[in-house]
Amino acid sequence: MENILEELKNDLNQIKKEHDLNEIKTKYLGKKGKITELSSKIKDLPVEEKKNFGANLNKLSLLDTKREEIETDILNKKLEEESIDISLPSTKIPMGAPNIVEKIVEEVEELLMSMGYDVVDGPEIEKDEYNFEMLNLPKGHPARDAQDTFYIEGEELLLRSQTSPVQIRTMLEGKGETPIRMIWPGKTYRRDDDDATHSHQFMQIEGLLIDKNVSLSDLKGTFDVVAKHLFGSDRLTRFRPSFYPFTEPSVELDISCFNCGMKGCPICKGTGWITVGGAGIVHPNVLKSSGYDPDKVSGFAFGFGIERLTMLKYGITDIRVLYTNDLRSNTQFSRRDV
Ligand code: DAH
Repeated sequence: MENILEELKNDLNQIKKEHDLNEIKTKYLGKKGKITELSSKIKDLPVEEKKNFGANLNKLSLLDTKREEIETDILNKKLEEESIDISLPSTKIPMGAPNIVEKIVEEVEELLMSMGYDVVDGPEIEKDEYNFEMLNLPKGHPARDAQDTFYIEGEELLLRSQTSPVQIRTMLEGKGETPIRMIWPGKTYRRDDDDATHSHQFMQIEGLLIDKNVSLSDLKGTFDVVAKHLFGSDRLTRFRPSFYPFTEPSVELDISCFNCGMKGCPICKGTGWITVGGAGIVHPNVLKSSGYDPDKVSGFAFGFGIERLTMLKYGITDIRVLYTNDLRSNTQFSRRDV
């Protein structure tokens, strides 16, 4: 046994590669290996020698030590040979970007929250009662035609054609308490013709403020802050008389054209002004039906078209760009913004 171990030591001293080590292993420990053969005789040895033999077998750990040595050598060689060139450009990892419609929503939300508004939510499948009736649009009212709608189950449930029904929900929940300061962005549905600027599904941001002595000038001030925040501090705002059954008086919300400095261009259709939403003083009938006394409180409401704001801000002419989830549009506009 001792002779064999001596021979093994010599063999190991001469090898450099892992492959040789395997050969040596077979030579000594393989089926017909020298040590294997010797081990088969162990049972015939007297007890004292058995112990000795066993102790010698422990010396076979030499093989493991050699393997480690070789592996370290190989690794060191590799490290020496392969240096990493950190001057090479790295692989580009594609980055996502927030959807630009969502970005506008968040901008408006953050601004109005800083002014004390809460962001609330309402269902997209709405009662006819809240979407129309309690907003002063009884059945058969001609103003319903402008929002030709998707009905679900008879005539009582529909896909909301505007976010205004959340006004009713908020006031019913408010139970006559003031102030109410709420905004709610959300999807709305209309049977609009699908063309470059219309879609059967679009988004609005509705707002409602109810308190004592609320007037049109409060609405003007609020609108002014939103317009300047989104489109630049030198924007002008104006009200244009309008009609909505749930507000009296009603106005269209216009901002001065940011594209041409009010000289007239295709974006403002030559007028110098761009309409971004509707608004007004909440109609007494709406307050009454929702549990508020029009003699004691008043309020204003507004509704912006979110896609419209987005398209204006980013100079997009086709609304479908906003819905096709093409990362290129988002990253492009994202970069412009950063
Ligand atoms: N809901 C209206 C629409 O979809 C927009 C609107 C106008 C909302 C006046 C309001 C408002 O809250 O007071 O055309």
